[in-house]
Amino acid sequence: MIKQAIIPLAGQGTRLLPLTSVFAKELLPINGKPGIEYIIEECIDAGIKEIIFIISKKKEMIKKYFYKDSFYNKVIKKKKDKRIFNEFKKIKKYQKMIKFVYQNKPMGTGDAVLKAKKHIKDKFFLMLLPDDLIIKRNCSKDMISIFNKKKCSVMASMKVNKNTVNRWGIYQKKKTINKLNFLIEDVIEKPEIKNAPSNNAVIGRYILNREIFNKLKNQRKGKGGEIHITDAIRRLIKDGNKFIGHNFSGKYLDCGTMHGYIKSSVEISKI
Ligand code: G1P
Repeated sequence: MIKQAIIPLAGQGTRLLPLTSVFAKELLPINGKPGIEYIIEECIDAGIKEIIFIISKKKEMIKKYFYKDSFYNKVIKKKKDKRIFNEFKKIKKYQKMIKFVYQNKPMGTGDAVLKAKKHIKDKFFLMLLPDDLIIKRNCSKDMISIFNKKKCSVMASMKVNKNTVNRWGIYQKKKTINKLNFLIEDVIEKPEIKNAPSNNAVIGRYILNREIFNKLKNQRKGKGGEIHITDAIRRLIKDGNKFIGHNFSGKYLDCGTMHGYIKSSVEISKI
């Protein structure tokens, strides 16, 4: 059973400057709602009961967003507005599920995940990257049902343009399982175009074994001087751990870039 999720939120959001110079990118509105709420809803709908947010001092705004009780109580008393009441109820529900841990130095996704170690109780957990929105179908839910059958790690995959492979983690396939799933032979973080083993990219949904923490503890810095989750996953695969790549059926929205962020509101408004 997968009951816990980790969401790294300490990233600086430089791809979205100037919007992120004083604001957390995950709170930026997408069609009238902070992006992070889409991710939380995906988790809840997939059966997740507890979410660990990895934030930084600079991103404490995210914690504050979920702890404005006295402000809401005052406004609701004064205005008796049903909409505001329902929004507060929703925030309270999220507040109860979320734990906060800190990653004050931006040392990469792998380092962020390691910070959540003490909170992870079960053998497997879900990890979601908040820049990656997947709409129209719950990717986490589909991945959890694959996990329930196969009892191994699962990662989301999507074909990308061959000229952009150096922006993603890229899979080397071992074997096709069926139309939507394949066994992973290897995964390489942001390879050069000429070295990329495929154009199947890692998208930010991972079901990981807690063994990953042992790898992360001594994981060396990789591309760009950061500790990458991809590099630790690679070592787990080399050790014989089974990883399935899942070609998800929903629509991908890249909210971590300005172009993608702007497009995401338009796409969601069409649903
Ligand atoms: C991260 C991962 C990368 C993955 C991507 C998906 O990169 O390191 O493997 O393909 O997310 O969005 P980032 O977007 O942090 O550069």
